[in-house]
Amino acid sequence: MNIKLIYSLMKADIDLIEKELESAVKSISPVLEEASVHLLQAGGKRIRPVLLLLGAKFGEYDIHRVKFAAAALELIHMASLVHDDVIDDAVIRRGQHTVKAEWDNRIAMYTGDFIFAAALECMTKVEDREAHRILSHTMTELCIGEIVQIQDKYRFEQNLRDYLRRIKRKTAILIAASCQLGAIAAGAPAQIHQKLYEFGYNVGMSFQITDDILDFTASEKDLGKPAGGDLLQGNITLPVLYAMENEDLKERITAVHAHTDRQDINQIIHLLKQSDAIERSHELSRRYLDRALAIMEELPPGRHRNSLRDIAYFIGRRKY
Ligand code: IPE
Ligand code: IPE
Ligand code: MG
Ligand code: MG
Repeated sequence: MNIKLIYSLMKADIDLIEKELESAVKSISPVLEEASVHLLQAGGKRIRPVLLLLGAKFGEYDIHRVKFAAAALELIHMASLVHDDVIDDAVIRRGQHTVKAEWDNRIAMYTGDFIFAAALECMTKVEDREAHRILSHTMTELCIGEIVQIQDKYRFEQNLRDYLRRIKRKTAILIAASCQLGAIAAGAPAQIHQKLYEFGYNVGMSFQITDDILDFTASEKDLGKPAGGDLLQGNITLPVLYAMENEDLKERITAVHAHTDRQDINQIIHLLKQSDAIERSHELSRRYLDRALAIMEELPPGRHRNSLRDIAYFIGRRKY
């Protein structure tokens, strides 16, 4: 089924989550509320809440129970984006100015914290200790992932394992938890929510690898920033690791620093795209996606399982 159709079939429930999100970021501080609403209204794919709803369909689905967990997951994602844009010095997010660009870094710091707190408050309406433990663990791992990414900047000797561990922490665990928490909030049995976690983990790995490929291959218009930004900032992603297996490219790449000029970066991007780095990255992304689909087969069959499969395809092969 087409992804648009899946979203349209779930529209009434997604609208309820949007309402929760809006009410969660209400504040007596106009700046905190405006900055949060600014990001909220900029859009986004709402992948995590949608996965959570689909996970919940494997239990006793009651939107009025699971909507709080769904909103909490989207809020954690949003908070991490506000902080991530400070770290990455990003100007555009979801086609709009980032909070750090529209206001400043100090405001972005506390807006991120505020949105994290809003997530926790939403989650208090899900009365399940295990769900709270999973959420805290997810936030801890996300922080470690982002910190390690800062520490690993321009560390050209890092390897594939370093990269995979980092993206697991900063991206895949949150997507895994989204799938799992839906099932937990809907009271599904443990073996089902465990499977959903594994499914989400593999989808999440595929998703971040695709995102890292797009940073090289997507147009400036789609990215809202020039391509190759990750490399310029010293973020060594999968295509770069593969490209460095070529001695010439390795020499050029390891010479990159924060002030390398655009022309040099563009030339490296050009050479990287001529190498097999992009194709091999797609190959690994596909392997994670295939693994996710194999795990999915172990879930009870039905409409919801088919929707999970279609969303996994959409996420793993994202074009923008
Ligand atoms: C962006 O996530 C950050 C990554 C983990 C790659 P999304 O691509 O889900 O962002 P939105 O929510 O649609 O803006
Ligand atoms: C994903 O990392 C952001 C988080 C997991 C917080 P990126 O830095 O690659 O994401 P984009 O490209 O800014 O969306
Ligand atoms: Mg970023
Ligand atoms: Mg990126």
